[in-house]
Amino acid sequence: MSTTTFTRTPSTTARSAQEVAALLEDPGFGRVFTDHMVTIAWTEAEGWHDAALVPYAAIPMDPAVNVLHYGQAIFEGLKAYRLPDGSIATFRPEANARRFQRSAARLAMPGLPAELFLGALEALVQQDSAYVPDDPEKSLYLRPFMFSTEVGLGVRPANSYLFVLIASPAGAYFSGGVHPVSVWLSTEYVRAAPGGTGEAKCAGNYAASLMAQAQAAAQDCDQVVWLDAHEHRWVEEMGGMNLYFVYGTGENARIVTPELSGALLPGITRDSLLTLAKDLGFGAEEGRISIEEWREGNASGELTEVFACGTAAVITPVGTVKSAEHSWTVGEGTSGEVTMRLRQALLDIQTGRAEDAHHWRHTLVEA
Ligand code: PLP
Ligand code: COI
Repeated sequence: MSTTTFTRTPSTTARSAQEVAALLEDPGFGRVFTDHMVTIAWTEAEGWHDAALVPYAAIPMDPAVNVLHYGQAIFEGLKAYRLPDGSIATFRPEANARRFQRSAARLAMPGLPAELFLGALEALVQQDSAYVPDDPEKSLYLRPFMFSTEVGLGVRPANSYLFVLIASPAGAYFSGGVHPVSVWLSTEYVRAAPGGTGEAKCAGNYAASLMAQAQAAAQDCDQVVWLDAHEHRWVEEMGGMNLYFVYGTGENARIVTPELSGALLPGITRDSLLTLAKDLGFGAEEGRISIEEWREGNASGELTEVFACGTAAVITPVGTVKSAEHSWTVGEGTSGEVTMRLRQALLDIQTGRAEDAHHWRHTLVEA
């Protein structure tokens, strides 16, 4: 457990146990928030200071605050699960803490020490533990974020920042639970280019993706698949998820994910699956996959399944693919066997239903 002390100001208007139970019935994704939040301030003079657990509330802002103009804003996403023994754990939070530091560095923001990042998670989840659902398909989604708070229009790294952690009970990211999603290959827009901010989890990357996401929706697709900026040919990732391609079936299956090119987000789920797939006896590797290989491998039957993975979406099968020129069904268009085995194995570790051989779980609240 972390040793940082957070001052605590409990909410006087917290929801009752019945109100929380009603919210947990069908929480959706990112619609409702718990009663508290954590804030930690940074200034050049004082460094990180004023770590506080406070009632969830609006953050007043000056119209000239730097973040509203130049977008120094980063975030993370991870989940807390209630385990069968009653304790509450999260998954590889040290990896999120490190990625948050790398995102900060890329945007010329100060790095939050991992101890403060983990301490914030513990403080909030301990306070709002009633919001962690007792259902392995649901969780409490934790959203740490940081933004610049300096007032002024000078274009330079700000001299003050605020870290905030909020939490939101979550069901399935895609409405309707686990079912194959449809994807749109965007050849018109680019999410990120080498040397850009694609590896960072910064707000601007998501803003830049929305136009293509709207185009995907207009094509009746659930999500965009991003291609490389140079040739518009190599598959990179989705709007908020990484991708895996499954070759072969049964014990001979092999999963391949686009290699980290500098333009895509190094997902923690993606990284975990490289290890977990091998534990289950599958091959697992990073590589390059072009859209032609995807279409032809699918047609020949060599490529059997495709799935998306990320904290919010866990593992979600991809059922159909559409581009300006082509459209095809992935495999049978159903949830593939390898996809669903990996999904269950991952969820079993995250929710404490399987042995944690790689020490990925991190207890936030003891039983
Ligand atoms: N790619 C993008 C663009 C994302 O926003 C996310 C979500 O965090 C991921 C991939 C998956 O990352 P992770 O598995 O760490 O949640
Ligand atoms: C996550 O999986 O945590 C994400 O950040 C994806 C999306 C909600 C932005």
